[in-house]
Amino acid sequence: MEQIVPPSPASAHQTDAGDSRAEAPYLRLVVWQAHQSRDVMASMGEALMPVLNRAGFGLAAVCGGKGVCGTCRVAFPEAWAARLAPPQKREQQLLCHLKARAGERLSCRITLTSELDGLEVSACE
Ligand code: FES
Repeated sequence: MEQIVPPSPASAHQTDAGDSRAEAPYLRLVVWQAHQSRDVMASMGEALMPVLNRAGFGLAAVCGGKGVCGTCRVAFPEAWAARLAPPQKREQQLLCHLKARAGERLSCRITLTSELDGLEVSACE
C-alpha cells in the first residue's frame, strides 16, 4: 500500500503565513483505483477533489471545484456514503442530471472532517 505524504507545514508557511492548513491536523483516506488501495493523507477542512488530484487520481474537475461540471464525481461504499454530509440542492440536482448511482458524490463538495478519517473512495464505474 503506497502512502502519499502531504506538503510539510513548513512549506505551507512559506506560501501563505495566514494559511490555516499549516496548523491543521491530517486524516487518512483510502483511495481505490484499479482494484488496489493506497493511503492518502489530507488536511482537515480541505475539499476531497484537490486532495485526490494531488494524489494523481486524475479527476477532470473542469469547473475547478465550483460544483457545476460533475467531472469530479467519485463513489463511496454505502457505509461511508451514509456518514457524509447530505448533498446541497445544487449538488443533488447535478447528480440527478448525471444519473449518479447511490453512493456517488461530487468530490469538490465533500469537506474533509475528523469524522471522515479512514474514508474510502473510488472512481465511478
Ligand atoms: Fe466541477 Fe466538482 S470540479 S463539479
